[in-house]
Amino acid sequence: MRKVLLTKKLSDANLALLRSIPDVACVNVPEGDNEAFLKEIMDADAVLLSTAFQITREVLGTAPGLKVISRTGVGVDNVDVLASTQKGVLVLNTPEANSISVAEHTVAMIAAVSKQLLYYDHEMRKGNFKVRRLNLCVDMEGKTLGLVGCGKIGRLVAKKCALAFGMKTVGYDPFIPEDIDGIRIFKNIEDIFKNADYISLHMPLTAETKNMVGERLISLMKPTAYLINTARGGVVDEAALASKLKDKAIAGAAFDVFSTEPPSQGNPLFGLQNTILTPHTAALTNECTERVAHEAVMGIADYLSGRTPKYVFNKELIIAKMQ
Ligand SMILES: NC(=O)c1ccc[n+]([C@@H]2O[C@H](COP(=O)([O-])OP(=O)(O)OC[C@H]3O[C@@H](n4cnc5c(N)ncnc54)[C@H](O)[C@@H]3O)[C@@H](O)[C@H]2O)c1
Repeated sequence: MRKVLLTKKLSDANLALLRSIPDVACVNVPEGDNEAFLKEIMDADAVLLSTAFQITREVLGTAPGLKVISRTGVGVDNVDVLASTQKGVLVLNTPEANSISVAEHTVAMIAAVSKQLLYYDHEMRKGNFKVRRLNLCVDMEGKTLGLVGCGKIGRLVAKKCALAFGMKTVGYDPFIPEDIDGIRIFKNIEDIFKNADYISLHMPLTAETKNMVGERLISLMKPTAYLINTARGGVVDEAALASKLKDKAIAGAAFDVFSTEPPSQGNPLFGLQNTILTPHTAALTNECTERVAHEAVMGIADYLSGRTPKYVFNKELIIAKMQ
């Protein structure tokens, strides 16, 4: 019997998929029960891993039969990938399952800041109907979207903004040299910040992108422009942004991600009228959580059925096997 350790409650359909594989037994550990996790992983062949548990080199050392770790989500920061690769353990992730949901959330944020939905709602409930003429909102039709990072999510946002609002898109991405999918690629990031009406961030958090959007770039933005961040909190200098928002040097911002999560009550973005904040929920829709779980289950099912899983993070193991 091959043991699949599940660290997340699965839907009946996903559970049935795993159970349909010959010679497989599934064992659940409750989310957060680290003691049970450390005990159950010792004789597991595969683990479906949520963010709630860590697989360190030490944990790998206690699980000699482990062959595959399938992460529900894109990030594999709770897995020691190097140690896994050295031990020949495949690390899988689900890089495409959440693109649609994050793109939808981004477009919803663009619409919500433009139409000041939260502000109007708040004022209405206070009895301030007059706000309708005192603080006008803006249209999106024909405006320019500026992307930093033109990967899966950025391109979906561009497509949705073009179809819904007739927006045109310019983008900066050091790994995409030419215009792509209707996005006009600019060679330098400054031109994006100078020209766009909405700057939407979709790059990964790396040593290079950490605090990349700070005082210098924000100063280049039009006073009517908005900054949207559904990528990672660490890519923006929040204090610099808050200062610009306070001075009304830019029109507004919408953030789903924060430099520290959960953010402290002292976060400089709190308490500003022209911002919309959501608690890292862009990918947490009903459909998306099901898609992510399904992709993670499929990775394990493929491996246990002798097929190559679709999304292998440590691809070098697959390449080495083929040589
Ligand atoms: N809010 C959420 O819940 C949520 C969910 C999923 C993903 N994300 C974030 O969204 C980001 C984009 O995801 P994706 O699926 O589109 O990834 P992706 O890998 O398809 O695209 C990322 C793009 O960023 C580009 N890039 C890398 N370095 C850059 C730089 N210095 N400047 C500009 N661009 C750069 C890459 O070339 C790539 O095209 C991810 O980094 C992830 O952290 C957030």
